[in-house]
Amino acid sequence: MRGDAARGGPSDGAFIELDRVEKVFDVRRRTGFLKRERRRVRAVDDLSFTVARGETVGYIGPNGAGKSTTIKMLTGILTPSGGRLRVAGIEPSRERTRLAQRIGVVFGQRTTLWWDLPLVDSYRLMHRMYRIPDARYRANLDRLVEHLDLGPLLDTPVRQLSLGQRMRGDIAAALLHDPEVLYLDEPTIGLDVISKARVRDFLRELRDERGTTVLLTTHDLQDIEQLCSRVMVIDHGRLMYDGPLAGLHEAGESERILVVDLDRELPPVDAPAPARVVKVEGPRQWLAFPSSVSAAPLVARIAAEYPLVDLSVREPDIEAVIARMYAGQGNRAASRPPTSIA
Ligand SMILES: Nc1ncnc2c1ncn2[C@@H]1O[C@H](COP(=O)(O)OP(=O)(O)OP(=O)(O)O)[C@@H](O)[C@H]1O
Ligand SMILES: [Mg+2]
Repeated sequence: MRGDAARGGPSDGAFIELDRVEKVFDVRRRTGFLKRERRRVRAVDDLSFTVARGETVGYIGPNGAGKSTTIKMLTGILTPSGGRLRVAGIEPSRERTRLAQRIGVVFGQRTTLWWDLPLVDSYRLMHRMYRIPDARYRANLDRLVEHLDLGPLLDTPVRQLSLGQRMRGDIAAALLHDPEVLYLDEPTIGLDVISKARVRDFLRELRDERGTTVLLTTHDLQDIEQLCSRVMVIDHGRLMYDGPLAGLHEAGESERILVVDLDRELPPVDAPAPARVVKVEGPRQWLAFPSSVSAAPLVARIAAEYPLVDLSVREPDIEAVIARMYAGQGNRAASRPPTSIA
């Protein structure tokens, strides 16, 4: 089904290319009666990377980092404020319709399906919208229904589907026209463990058997662990890390984070090595320490010496990995450290 001769991409193998891409939003905020404040939000800032055909890349970062903005530019929904962007040799915002034939998108937070129609009717509409040849449509639908276990759901209106069912429905919708690249913006958000596993299994198959290029945004480190060999970390619109999962995995596995709430804003606490403060935000401080070490002595020390109000211990997650990179531990962290992290 793939690989028509007419579908050539750039010859150098870079299927997605960003060169110094920027996206600035002008935001107007009401600050009082008849008072408005204008603010510029630099959602994506000097972002450059390439993704080769067939790669599955994790695209991660904290809330507001610029991930969804990047994906919207890659689909042509948003036009970059600066820089150069190409997908399959196409400039997305200029040739959005032509590009649509070659890409699939799933926004976990928002469905692309018709809310009031039975699932299968959405697929029929896509069949026509994308002008998918009948035989190919039927073959793809059969395959997707089987692999995503959608058979019993086809006649159910989308609004009656559970989140996990709806997500599987959305993934099928994104793939009916055989896109060469699939953007997944938090496809596992809100799913239970079993639904997550099912989605991951399917994506693994897609990658291995069909060679689809996948850009995956998620806050779930396990999604990345199970699907991606390469990870890009973005924060404040900038690329902070681009490399193999191994580096990130190691950093994420080896440390836990103690989050302490003090009764007021204080300079970073004096933590006994190897524990160290990786982030301060008001009265809250984050301390990283090796996973193999007990948190008890560290907690006791801070409780004895500081006005401790509350605490929690977090297992490694993406945010912790990122915090650790900022602390200068990540060997590929970009040169400019973000200013909001102490
Ligand atoms: N349409 C818009 N108008 C104004 N500001 C926007 C718009 N879309 C995004 N932003 C801002 O751009 C920044 C990046 O947002 P974006 O949605 O790309 O983050 P994200 O990395 O996807 O975060 P999350 O993990 O929460 O989904 C944020 O500061 C956000 O408030
Ligand atoms: Mg987002």
